[in-house]
Amino acid sequence: MQATAEAHPNIALVKYWGKRDVARNLPAVSSLSVTLDTLRTRMTVEFRAGDRDALSVNGQAAPGMLERVSRCLDSVAGKERSAARVTSDSNFPIGAGLASSASAFAALVVAANAASGAAHDRLALARLAGAASGSAARSLYGGLVELDAGDEQIDLVPLAAADDWPLMVVVAITDDNTKSVGSGDGMIRSARTSPFYSSWLAQQEDDLSAAREAVRNRDIGRLSEVAEHNCLKMHSVMWTSRPPIVYWNSATLACMEAIRGLRAEGHAVFFTIDAGPQVKAVCLPASVDAVSAALAETPGVLDILTTGVGCGARRIDQ
Ligand code: PMV
Repeated sequence: MQATAEAHPNIALVKYWGKRDVARNLPAVSSLSVTLDTLRTRMTVEFRAGDRDALSVNGQAAPGMLERVSRCLDSVAGKERSAARVTSDSNFPIGAGLASSASAFAALVVAANAASGAAHDRLALARLAGAASGSAARSLYGGLVELDAGDEQIDLVPLAAADDWPLMVVVAITDDNTKSVGSGDGMIRSARTSPFYSSWLAQQEDDLSAAREAVRNRDIGRLSEVAEHNCLKMHSVMWTSRPPIVYWNSATLACMEAIRGLRAEGHAVFFTIDAGPQVKAVCLPASVDAVSAALAETPGVLDILTTGVGCGARRIDQ
């Protein structure tokens, strides 16, 4: 009745922003991501006698997140399940634009599946994780993966395994506070108010096919071009929402500038930024030291995390 699973966050190179069905949490666009390896969330689920679920996150009770977790447990183990004690532990800042909800819900569905004996397969678990947090579906898979928004339900298509293309990701932390607007609320606001939202939806297929081809050819130059364009387009939608959603700070901009400078010196590196002020620099292994050094000395950068490409969510207590 107890199981522990581990999952890594993922970062999208072609982004998900917008929902086509808020109640079922279905994405309005497909997306393409890379799963990281050094950052991780470990989640233990224990079903036991009692009438209430309990959640602890990094050693502290977290009643504010319990409802979302309980709903996700119901979806995996059924509403008739026993009460659960859920213990989550992450080795990186949570709620700060580092995709902690992706690793958390991916680990949660795997642990709950094992602890309850529900026997869902990986794709079914990805769909259940995605219902809790859209990007979490991608963390069920390692390497580079595409999330196809589908018609009725999402599909996940692995594009390259973790060791097929040894990309590195350097994360520059520019602020470790919790973000002001959560991604779910932000997406709903953008869909309702940004005049750019419809072109964002209309162009996504083109960006995806360019990125898919770049991954197939292991062409980091082509991937750089489309990933930065897609990231800036998503942030333009955010900025032009009413009220505006601006996650960047001056260090975010300074990091983007530093990455452009590195590229001008011949390094294969590009940036991407999610719903937060952190900058993720994706590069080839030959450039990782130069990228880490340049970002570490960029004004306003508080910390640097370096990671390679990781594997999908899995049980770790067997
Ligand atoms: O999975 P959510 O609801 O936290 O949304 C993730 C949104 C972005 O990180 C900004 C983009 C993405 O595709 O991961």
